[in-house]
Amino acid sequence: MSNEPIVFNNTVLRDGHQSLAATRMRTEQMLPALGLLDDLRFGALETWGGATIDACLRYLHENPFDRLSELKKGTPKTPHMMLLRGQNLVQYTSFPDDVVTAFVKCSVSRGMDIFRIFDALNDTRNLTVAIQAVHEAGKHAQGVICYTTSPVHTMDSFIRLGEELEEMGSDSVCVKDMAGLITPSASYELIKALKKRLKVPVVLHTHSTVGMGAAAYFAAIEAGAEAIDTSIAPFANGTGQPDTLLMQKMLDYSPRKPAYNEKKLHALRRHFDGVYEELSAFTSPSNERVDSDILVYQVPGGMLSNFRNQLKEQKMSDRLDQVMEEIPFVREQLGWIPLVTPTSQIVGTQAMLNVKFGPWKMLSQPAMDILLGKYGKTPGPVNAERRKQAEKQAGQNAIEGRPADFLEPRMPQLRKELTERDLPETDEMAVLYAMFPQELVKVMKGPPPVAETPPQRTPVKEVPASVSGETSRYRMTVNGTAYEVAVEDRGNGERA
Ligand code: CO
Repeated sequence: MSNEPIVFNNTVLRDGHQSLAATRMRTEQMLPALGLLDDLRFGALETWGGATIDACLRYLHENPFDRLSELKKGTPKTPHMMLLRGQNLVQYTSFPDDVVTAFVKCSVSRGMDIFRIFDALNDTRNLTVAIQAVHEAGKHAQGVICYTTSPVHTMDSFIRLGEELEEMGSDSVCVKDMAGLITPSASYELIKALKKRLKVPVVLHTHSTVGMGAAAYFAAIEAGAEAIDTSIAPFANGTGQPDTLLMQKMLDYSPRKPAYNEKKLHALRRHFDGVYEELSAFTSPSNERVDSDILVYQVPGGMLSNFRNQLKEQKMSDRLDQVMEEIPFVREQLGWIPLVTPTSQIVGTQAMLNVKFGPWKMLSQPAMDILLGKYGKTPGPVNAERRKQAEKQAGQNAIEGRPADFLEPRMPQLRKELTERDLPETDEMAVLYAMFPQELVKVMKGPPPVAETPPQRTPVKEVPASVSGETSRYRMTVNGTAYEVAVEDRGNGERA
């Protein structure tokens, strides 16, 4: 086993505030911390990707590429790392290969060094183009194993996935436990096995949501992991990563204890205390505490809190247990997809619809897309009858191939649309426009927004949109994305 000091990557500028303050930290609140962050010589600073690009445009009126440049300028000694959802970039649907390649190139030109690339279904076909683009730009591609628990997600399946990621050319492999569900013993077993099989470095990313994060990291370090992700309190612990100081202290007497300067860590803490205060409209006590309910329900913390609001809106608060019991059945029929954005919302919403209208009487659009193979290959097979139902409702057959193979190149069209809207037809504008058209136009052309009101913590709204003939249509909003769901009326008042 390695006795080298463990490397900490720092997540305060991305996952830290995404997990604990709804991704609302502004660039100006980050800038004063950059000198200290750079001096600490973390393995990498996670500064971009995930929900930060969306939040920059949607809520903060910032150009996300300009943020990256500014952060890079302030931390020239430390590699920058970003979270990339493979073919989905930083959105929820597949983009054509030329858009993926352009996005990676633009990010590199603004200073990105390490791309942590994942697919919500662990379908590696959705990672190949991004990995290739990163390598063409001479940068580091980190392949990701999304960790989840289900009958088809065995230790062996994760190890095989790790081997596949290495064969595909990943420069390192990250076990990404977005829900904080990995137990210390599972962490030890998995990291140990990966260290035995792989030549590339292995990293663990987890959250303290359930209360096991720091212990899972400790076990990973004992098992020989090269790096872990930590954050800076108060943008740490709870639904975020364990705090850096805590994690370092935990390694007293361990040969792998690193030597990050504690005075500088304290100073950072003081800065971020102030920022946390400034963002109080977006922080919440329920994100700060360990939630044992999650252990009972076996779903990610973020999903559970979203869910309580969703059920309240539907006047179904008293049916939480029933909906939670429905979740494993929904997951099974959808091929045991991991519960991570966006699949957690898809499964949760479908479970709610099943309880409200009867099992599979109403199929949401995204659940239908999963069944049609539009997100990629599911970890287990989807239920055949459900697939038929989806094909009938959509009027098309399921696809077996890589989803992006069905998409035409889009960069020329995007540039044309930018010109029509009198926006600069650069690649940066094109990739942002592909993902967030309205938000980008607002940032580029609209007046600065007035002070923002706190986010609505009610992700699903359902309103009868129209009732025509035999089919009722419902509009639903899942985490800001609107979907329309069709429900056929069987004539006896029952919905099919
Ligand atoms: Co995370």
